[in-house]
Amino acid sequence: MDEGGSRLRRRVSVRKRARPSPGEPRQERAEEPGAGSRRRRTAEAQPLQSNDSDEDMFGDYDSFAENSFLAHVDDAGRQCMQDCERGKHAAGLGTEGLRGEGGATAAGGFAEWETDEPVRSRSRREDASAQRGTLEDVPSSQALYFGNVENSPAGVGNQRPEERGWEASSLDTPNEEFPRNSVEQHQQPDDASSEVRRGSEENRRKSLKEHLKSAMTGNARAQTPVFSRTKQLKETLLSEEISVAKKTMESSSDDLGPFYSLPSKVRDLYVQFKGIEKLYEWQHTCLTLNSVQERKNLIYSLPTSGGKTLVAEILMLQELLCRRRDVLMILPYVAIVQEKISGLSSFGIELGFFVEEYAGSKGKFPPIKRREKKSLYIATIEKGHSLVNSLIETGRIGSLGLVVVDELHMIGEGSRGAILEMTLAKILYTSKTTQIIGMSATLNNVEDLQEFLQAECYTSQFRPVELKEYLKINDAIYEVDNKAENGMTFSRLLNCQYSDTLKKMDPDHLVALVTEVIPNYSCLVFCPTKKNCENVAEMICKFLSKEYLKHREKEKHELIKNLKSISGGNVCPILKRTIPFGVAYHHSGLTSDEKRLLEEAYSTGALCLFTCTSTLAAGVNLPARRVILRAPYVAKEFLKRSQYKQMIGRAGRAGIDSVGESVLILQEKDKQQVSELISRPLENCYSHLVQEFTKGIQTLFLSLIGLKIATNLDDICHFMGGTLFGVQQKILLKEKSLREITVEWLRYLTEKGLLQKDVVDKPKDESFHITKLGRASFKGTIDLAYCDILYRDLKKGLEGLVLESLLHLIYLTTPYDMASQCVPDWMIYFRQKVDKDIVNRLYLSFVLYTLLKETNIWSVSEKFNMPRGYIQSLLAGAASFSSCVLHFCEELEEFWVYRALLVELTKKLTYCVKAELIPLMEVTGVLEGRAKQLYNAGYKSLIHLANANPEVLIRTVDHLSRRQAKQIVSSAKMLLHEKAEALQEEVEELLRLPSDFPSVEASSTEKA
Ligand SMILES: Nc1ncnc2c1ncn2[C@@H]1O[C@H](COP(=O)(O)OP(=O)(O)OP(=O)(O)O)[C@@H](O)[C@H]1O
Ligand SMILES: [Mg+2]
Repeated sequence: MDEGGSRLRRRVSVRKRARPSPGEPRQERAEEPGAGSRRRRTAEAQPLQSNDSDEDMFGDYDSFAENSFLAHVDDAGRQCMQDCERGKHAAGLGTEGLRGEGGATAAGGFAEWETDEPVRSRSRREDASAQRGTLEDVPSSQALYFGNVENSPAGVGNQRPEERGWEASSLDTPNEEFPRNSVEQHQQPDDASSEVRRGSEENRRKSLKEHLKSAMTGNARAQTPVFSRTKQLKETLLSEEISVAKKTMESSSDDLGPFYSLPSKVRDLYVQFKGIEKLYEWQHTCLTLNSVQERKNLIYSLPTSGGKTLVAEILMLQELLCRRRDVLMILPYVAIVQEKISGLSSFGIELGFFVEEYAGSKGKFPPIKRREKKSLYIATIEKGHSLVNSLIETGRIGSLGLVVVDELHMIGEGSRGAILEMTLAKILYTSKTTQIIGMSATLNNVEDLQEFLQAECYTSQFRPVELKEYLKINDAIYEVDNKAENGMTFSRLLNCQYSDTLKKMDPDHLVALVTEVIPNYSCLVFCPTKKNCENVAEMICKFLSKEYLKHREKEKHELIKNLKSISGGNVCPILKRTIPFGVAYHHSGLTSDEKRLLEEAYSTGALCLFTCTSTLAAGVNLPARRVILRAPYVAKEFLKRSQYKQMIGRAGRAGIDSVGESVLILQEKDKQQVSELISRPLENCYSHLVQEFTKGIQTLFLSLIGLKIATNLDDICHFMGGTLFGVQQKILLKEKSLREITVEWLRYLTEKGLLQKDVVDKPKDESFHITKLGRASFKGTIDLAYCDILYRDLKKGLEGLVLESLLHLIYLTTPYDMASQCVPDWMIYFRQKVDKDIVNRLYLSFVLYTLLKETNIWSVSEKFNMPRGYIQSLLAGAASFSSCVLHFCEELEEFWVYRALLVELTKKLTYCVKAELIPLMEVTGVLEGRAKQLYNAGYKSLIHLANANPEVLIRTVDHLSRRQAKQIVSSAKMLLHEKAEALQEEVEELLRLPSDFPSVEASSTEKA
């Protein structure tokens, strides 16, 4: 299903939270573009292969696949197959064929890869064991080959097909597939061990060559009819499964169970990586609920910082390790996905499962089928939807044992909510064995969600750190008190002796409020707008005493230096003025690299105050002793209770603070509304499926029919009955029945040329199929609001495509939704009567075109007078949309010419950095600035990073904390491991006899 899109890679900002121990999730916040906004459609959510981040985007060497090792193996394999086919008629010639050019290349290529860094740095213990043949440290599929070589003196080449290494069950499957000790070993070369290493490398090289040869020869010689061959493969699979099951059973007798059915190692890892020694009582109760034991769907709801994540993680580990099925975790933002990836990679390495990222432009559709280890897919809402679609399309949805949705209340938020609802409804409809678990701190009408998800509910008011809520009116502070008549009791008068100037500049007494906390504790000030964040930060610094400059002066100085170095010598003048005081603003106008550095500094305490927008509130920990809400507004909208709860929930995080407090500043005029805000229940969640028509119901119907989940009216109505909209239909759209709504939208899509009615005898059997345009839109995840325009523009483009520069192509892939928001600072716009949409899009094309040429966000930002964060989002959106247009064109004959052009353009937009940095930036948490540092320090590839010693990294790379270094290394290890495994998979796939291979009987019958 996926090609180019899945190969795209982007990076988003990585932020870390202050945590006591290494390996813990980072503090990251990168918003999916247009979260909650219906306008920014395309970049915001492309349910299939597209980008879904507004952050920067780079690296993936998958997309250089044409030149990759895999491509060579592929070519070689094909060559071998042809040779084998030719040689089949002459006895023994199959092997000869393999000695030809193709075979040699393949084996050579593999040997080259095999001898790369990880092998060289493998530990003595591992090398020795490889020598002994215990094969502890190699991926299972390699172990398979080596095992066979060593067990058979003649090598696998002489084996009969049925004796060859396909039968994984006959092998000891290594548990520890990654060279865990490689880091230490890397620093201590040892002659004896290098001798052993050379031996083992040779073995490997030889065995792989042998294996390539033997597999081909075996296939070519195979006299076995297709049917028995397939059977044989099935048997192999079965015995593999049995062996896995046995292993699980065996281990369960001694170690499966001490920690909620998990090995005791899991408990140790929680102590080691997260400093969690004991579960909270509610966590224990929740994990031992009958409904959980029976694998019923579950919704649990607790206040912010209640520790919800741990319960979800334990359930996920149970699914991965005990039940041995894949798990999907859906999180709301790219940055939170990356935080989780960083946090769980070390668990994956230690416990033997894959952690795969589905965010930004990362993720393969359908996911790679793993043979032994299970996968934990961590996805954004959009990517999660695409993943589920791809699993349904390939008949693999049953492989998903568990789906966890964090921040489940987001189901009621705009188009992203609609996508989440579709995803869950599709899972419920197509897989009875997939368990769904949702969690949230801000759920009110949980019954509706329970009915939708057919779930049990668990709720508790536990919060490990007490959060005191205050309101400030003039200079009086009131404590929120539900028992009091008007919801508040007087607490104290603010101690502030303000000069006249200060009174004028700071009528809300922000300086007094923050100086009660900083610099020893941290403080967040939520402001209604971005501009306000900047102004408040500057204003506060103007009135801070010089003493603040001395607090962690060196670190702040380093931070400015670092900001300068990652931004090509530029530092925002406001930050330059505020950072020395330990203060910074934080909003989407910053680049991902800037955000990451600022957050790291905040987490370590070098910065003690952020002035930020509400986007900082959802989900991630940027903990604070005190959270101040500058006004009860987000932009011009009055605060919702759930937003208020999320914001104040940042105060007093467990493990970081012992107390937490929030202060909401309000004016007399807002008093009434605020008193309702603090007392009323949380807002209800309502389905947006039908309301968000192009992103909601239209997309849903197209995919239901395109994926053949439901193709006739009855089935589609039945499906709709099982959605949240179905549950709430009587509240949301009383005047129409579900059937009427369904018929209406199906008719609309048919009229639009995206669906076509099948010819049927009886009207009641009315069924549909998807048209070419419908499939193109669905596969390209094109917002249906734009699919006609896109078709028309591409068609028009064919009439005179200007290829002298990239500009015309860029224009065609500039996102429509971003163009509609653009306000060009351009005289032509005022002077001439031109189509606004076209002019805006063209203007943005110029921005992108300049960016591709200069690859410097700062200079382009200056040139076009647009915020650098916006330029970065534009680039991400264009890379994403370009990939969508590519998929769109792939489905439509008439656009064949665009395919090759768009592959290249997508790459260019995706990797708008120097090519050598791309491999490094593939690692979660490594953005451009960090990649440059690492590259300059000699870490030039993923393999270098995976084998790096964190201690050495800290010494050689400026401003890198131990925790960050460890996370970079473990993420790199996980990624390398995944790549190695994918290569193995591909080699096996390549060597596997096609299931439709003509049988001997069949060909002789044909001849007769
Ligand atoms: N049993 C425990 N002992 C000590 N610390 C814990 C425990 N469980 C969770 N924590 C810590 O509590 C903090 C908050 O937990 P978590 O992020 O899971 O909260 P949450 O309920 O998801 O909150 P939110 O709704 O804000 O996302 C984390 O730092 C986590 O490591
Ligand atoms: Mg949480």
